[in-house]
Amino acid sequence: MLIGRKVLVKDEVNSTNDVAKALAVEGEPEGTVVTAARQTFGRGRTGRRWESPQGGLYLSVILRPELPAPDLTLFTVLSCLPVAQAMEEVCRVVPSIKWPNDVRVEGKKVAGILGEVCYRGGEPRFMVLGIGIDLNTDPAALTAPEAGSLREICKRDLDPERFLNVLLFRLDDMYARFMKGERELDLYARYSESIGRDVEVRLGDQRVRGRGMRLDADGALVLRSEDGMIYRATSVHDVVPLDRGQVRFEGG
Ligand code: BTN
Repeated sequence: MLIGRKVLVKDEVNSTNDVAKALAVEGEPEGTVVTAARQTFGRGRTGRRWESPQGGLYLSVILRPELPAPDLTLFTVLSCLPVAQAMEEVCRVVPSIKWPNDVRVEGKKVAGILGEVCYRGGEPRFMVLGIGIDLNTDPAALTAPEAGSLREICKRDLDPERFLNVLLFRLDDMYARFMKGERELDLYARYSESIGRDVEVRLGDQRVRGRGMRLDADGALVLRSEDGMIYRATSVHDVVPLDRGQVRFEGG
């Protein structure tokens, strides 16, 4: 097992992604994981904050895949799968994935992933995969309206060590397969709230409604809009699942 061969357990840090990045710059080998009980400046996608009170699981993995940048963004998108699988196994819940990187249970966001790639001379040098899970979080400590705590959903305390072990095992397996060229796109589609579903893609004031079709080679969400055009949602967009019937395709 590569991922989790070494796990550095911290109490409080600014951001496990920052700690992992600093270690990676110093030459820390691939597979090292940094965990923290709390983060004072947990970061989310698109510059958002990630609330990181006690009770959550916050971890970052150092990876050094020799792959082009589009593969790294696809890998980040697919890394929701091991998170969802660990939730099924340990929490016995039914998770779904809101593109690109939110894992949700009963309509609440309970986990998010932030993949950050460090480049040298235009080529990826290493990547840090940061995962935040609201495992035993007190819901009162979460102010984001969409956020939920797995403990509250499951109505019991969840074992963080077991969760971490299962997650690292699944992530390691998925990474090894990804490096061999396997792309678990069908499995992703099964968990996805966006593929085969009606969605609205938002960027600023712009809105496009359509049906999610598939992941592109770089993890972008390919969708067919109401007027039959093909669009790609990338990391700058928000993709919101819609109820059936809200999208009206031209020609029926
Ligand atoms: C998101 O949903 O926007 C992504 C959230 C990612 C949060 C994790 S917690 C561990 C790691 N350290 C951070 O600062 N962020 C990631």
